[in-house]
Amino acid sequence: MKEIPLTGGDVTEGLVRVGDTVRRPPGERDELVRAVLLHLESVRFDGAPRFLGVDSAGRQTLSYVEGEVAGRPRPGWIADEDRMISVAQLVRAYDDAVEGFGIPAGLPAPIEPPGLPDLADPPELVGHQDITPENVVFRDGRAYALIDFDLARPVSRAREMVNLMLWWAPLGDDADLDPGFRGLDRPRRCRLIADAYDLSLPDRQRLMELAIGLNERAWHTMKYRTETLGGGWQRMWSEGVGEKITRRQDWLESHADAITTALIA
Ligand SMILES: Nc1ncnc2c1ncn2[C@@H]1O[C@H](COP(=O)(O)OP(=O)(O)O)[C@@H](O)[C@H]1O
Ligand SMILES: [Mg+2]
Repeated sequence: MKEIPLTGGDVTEGLVRVGDTVRRPPGERDELVRAVLLHLESVRFDGAPRFLGVDSAGRQTLSYVEGEVAGRPRPGWIADEDRMISVAQLVRAYDDAVEGFGIPAGLPAPIEPPGLPDLADPPELVGHQDITPENVVFRDGRAYALIDFDLARPVSRAREMVNLMLWWAPLGDDADLDPGFRGLDRPRRCRLIADAYDLSLPDRQRLMELAIGLNERAWHTMKYRTETLGGGWQRMWSEGVGEKITRRQDWLESHADAITTALIA
């Protein structure tokens, strides 16, 4: 059968669609992704591709999820509030569905620079952790499925929320955002996301401090991955992702109070 390259994402090379399946070269946490997808199937969570096995070329075979995925340029609906709320509801459903999977022992350590300080943010579940517009499939104007579990890892719900807000509020200076995401009321959107997810009060209170700590780590991790893995990481770094993260740090620090106020008001 014909192999059609899927080029919407940022990182994975060699990703193709074959009929109603997707084939992807194994990621760095292949076994975890496989086990998570099988768990989601066992609890009948429909908002993720099914893991169908490994093909003769050693690639993960997943079900192709029909629907609409935001590419570039961004579609006109990218900042639509109801869509954003539906993403937060889908992430809540995913987090609840994956919670029973637990946190497997003996996971290979994430590829991070040695000596990164600990965030004192104990994991609660295996979060998706890459909830970009490219990784959400919509149907009938609502978020239907998460795809691309390559960055899934044990995290707290608050950390999953930071990732969700990062991409969908989104967090950062207008100049660094897609045109469709500029000029938005971010404190309001963060509140809507937190409410749709039903985030706890203690998590709301500590969210921005965590966001700032994570953003700082992201800079070091991206740089390290660029140096050690190259490929798509190298491409993103040379496109200026490091400087963008630095600018986001300033933005987060100057908007933290307003967002926290909106979250807990
Ligand atoms: N299982 C799937 N069902 C539907 N579309 C998919 C699936 N997997 C990937 N795609 C499409 O391919 C694009 C890139 O895939 P993704 O898994 O996100 O790769 P990357 O790691 O490069 O981000 C997605 O944005 C989406 O449009
Ligand atoms: Mg992707």
